[in-house]
Amino acid sequence: MKALTWQGIRSVTVDTVPDPILQQPDDAIIEVTSTAICGSDLHLYEVLGPFMNKGDVIGHEPMGVVVDAGPESGLSPGDRVVVPFQIACGDCYMCRRGLQTQCETTQVRAQGMGAALFGYSELYGSVPGGQAEFLRVPHAGYGPIKVGAELPDHRYLFLSDVLPTAWQAVAYTGLSGDADLAVLGLGPIGQFCARIGVHLGMRVHAIDPVPERRQMAARHGVTVHDMGEEAIGTIREATGGRGPDAVIDAVGMEAHGSPMAKATQLATGLLPDAVAQKAMETAGVDRLAALQTAIELVRRGGTISLSGVYGGQASPLPMLTLFDKQIELRMGQANVRRWVDELLPLVEDPADPLGVDDFVTHRLPLEQGPDAYEMFQKKTDGCIKVVLDPKG
Ligand SMILES: NC(=O)c1ccc[n+]([C@@H]2O[C@H](COP(=O)([O-])OP(=O)(O)OC[C@H]3O[C@@H](n4cnc5c(N)ncnc54)[C@H](O)[C@@H]3O)[C@@H](O)[C@H]2O)c1
Ligand SMILES: [Zn+2]
Ligand SMILES: [Zn+2]
Repeated sequence: MKALTWQGIRSVTVDTVPDPILQQPDDAIIEVTSTAICGSDLHLYEVLGPFMNKGDVIGHEPMGVVVDAGPESGLSPGDRVVVPFQIACGDCYMCRRGLQTQCETTQVRAQGMGAALFGYSELYGSVPGGQAEFLRVPHAGYGPIKVGAELPDHRYLFLSDVLPTAWQAVAYTGLSGDADLAVLGLGPIGQFCARIGVHLGMRVHAIDPVPERRQMAARHGVTVHDMGEEAIGTIREATGGRGPDAVIDAVGMEAHGSPMAKATQLATGLLPDAVAQKAMETAGVDRLAALQTAIELVRRGGTISLSGVYGGQASPLPMLTLFDKQIELRMGQANVRRWVDELLPLVEDPADPLGVDDFVTHRLPLEQGPDAYEMFQKKTDGCIKVVLDPKG
């Protein structure tokens, strides 16, 4: 089959790799009909290179049709399913508590990490990913979300990652209704964090340097700002001089505005893998500009919810300010199945309350994956979200 594979820093190619086959009684094989590129894939493309191996199949936002199903998968050929980005068992201590990203059955203990993820480096189990014609889904009796046949793929696809991630980010703010929320970053994740805030009745401000990303958010009732000190002043003024009740960081470790850390990240990427892995374990390699903005902006006693991914073990944080402002911090990979029951009716609602129909900017054949990665990373051609079509 054809698949997108990682070849090196900023290099992915379309290759022919062996078709996946059933390996366990609860496995399923799906033929992928849509598979998206995520901001998290951009971290593999650049910063997390030391944990990747040449030829790794990437991608973790797929959906498709079951073509082969193990006897314990609970699925049958022909079922249309969305596949969550994490692999979880559904009945361990963690899964029962809605912490599917910490699943004790699939935890990557050799790396000291949480649940295995599709297509996401040695850190998360080196499981072949979903930017491919076919995907083997382990623990298929729990993960895959069965959906109906009527609506187009793009209505359901983002249940694999973007929507539960944004929903969890908002849930972790602890806010509801009459409240002020700020969202940093208007990539795919920030778009939906902001829209979900609006949907739940909050006043939402968002910051991003890219004009078309601000325009998209503005179409959905979000007050938008360019990056910079001015935005902080304006948002503070609009929130009684205090700052918003909560700030979501939907930027992560490759934020603009951290030149020193960017140099470290780039240098780390050039080291031999073993040395670079050690460096990432012991040094602060995150670009913390967005998190620092969140700490400055949030009101005293407010909450910061991190959905952007961070990867350094010793990134310096302003503990004095965090402590003095009594800031609450919540974070983590999204626990997909925990939020699906709340999200499914919203994506199926003909009124499209979260505006899923206004999100995908590019649908391209899988063959164009390499160009699509470059376009998404460089934010050219108005690119906000790319969906790849293996049959395209
Ligand atoms: N927690 C999870 O489960 C989960 C799931 C998916 C993605 N993520 C993470 O969420 C983050 C965002 O992902 P995405 O798909 O939206 O990707 P993205 O890279 O397209 O979005 C990041 C956005 O932040 C903006 N930005 C950069 N620096 C900024 C700054 N200093 N202030 C404000 N905005 C800034 C960029 O212009 C861009 O629009 C990534 O770190 C990704 O890994 C986490
Ligand atoms: Zn993703
Ligand atoms: Zn589990």
